[in-house]
Amino acid sequence: MIYSRIAGTGSYLPAKIITNQDLEKLVDTTDEWIRTRTGIERRHVAAEGETTVDLAEHAARRAIEAAGIAPAEIDFIAFGTTTPDLVFPNCGTLLQQRLGCRGVPAFSLETACAGFMYALSIADKYVRCGEARRALVIGAETLSRITDWSDRATAVLFADGAGAVVLEAAASPGVLSTHLHSDGEYKDLLYCGSGVSKGFDAKLAISMTGSEVFKIAVTKLGQVVDETLSANGLERSSLDWLVPHQANIRIIQATARKLEIPMERVIVTVQDHGNTSAASVPMALDVAVREGRIRRGELLLLEAFGGGFTWGSALVRY
Ligand code: ACO
Repeated sequence: MIYSRIAGTGSYLPAKIITNQDLEKLVDTTDEWIRTRTGIERRHVAAEGETTVDLAEHAARRAIEAAGIAPAEIDFIAFGTTTPDLVFPNCGTLLQQRLGCRGVPAFSLETACAGFMYALSIADKYVRCGEARRALVIGAETLSRITDWSDRATAVLFADGAGAVVLEAAASPGVLSTHLHSDGEYKDLLYCGSGVSKGFDAKLAISMTGSEVFKIAVTKLGQVVDETLSANGLERSSLDWLVPHQANIRIIQATARKLEIPMERVIVTVQDHGNTSAASVPMALDVAVREGRIRRGELLLLEAFGGGFTWGSALVRY
């Protein structure tokens, strides 16, 4: 049997930081409201001209270095993003050109905050079936480009960043299972209503019915973590770490309660990162690995939920 395992992780945050206090000057909000309702204290945003692929390249090079390989050894690129540099070529291919691994399959997919979970699942399958040996999996976003900075309901939430992992073929897992879902019935609760085919009449900005999204996110994430454990015949107590999507500290706490996992075993970066959509899980993972909290051999549950709705999870032996 061939499995995939995480050989290296990397992440990158753009230099510019916007604090809650900065936002108090832009919209009718308070640091106290943002912290208590979301857990966010600051967020990073890309500089003018800095693109999603720029951020992704930094994260990718760090993951490749951590894996101890050369960029040319990557043979598959799966890139999750909702904020691509261009309509085409896709971000995966743009990144491939910069890394110099010419000719290998590279693509991007747009499943909002679940983008990294979808990319990880696909890359895992390609490694398992023997068609890839070293896959680069990216989640990267410049959500600041589709944030209405005059709308207090969304301006306080979204941010930019990139995270990456290198998956490599191994004799034992690694990635134990992945679980993906979507339900387009909820498309009107969280969307960006402007696009190439639909037209750019609508504002290029995220619209969200936050309280409804919140409730459904808690329910669906609760279901997917149960599904993940039961698919592997595991008890909640088997988990070493929860690495959740960083949208809102209250959603994270609700999932932790469901898993009966103490918050000390949950990776939380939302205070510093904000909601970076597809970049959120791989960035949180990389932070915890580099801080030495997540160690080799530990069992991780990764999960994310976002627009569509789309959601997913992965059980990973790190
Ligand atoms: N500052 C001050 N007050 C605000 C702000 C703000 N920034 N934003 C909203 N309010 C007000 C509202 O107007 C409302 O006032 P009212 O009671 O006078 O009408 C009040 O605060 C409560 O608003 P709610 O929307 O009910 O607040 P809630 O507690 O639900 O928190 C939040 C809002 C943080 C958006 C929360 O609902 C949430 O996190 N939702 C889920 C987000 C998420 O997970 N998204 C999925 C991923 S994102 C993606 O896929 C791109």
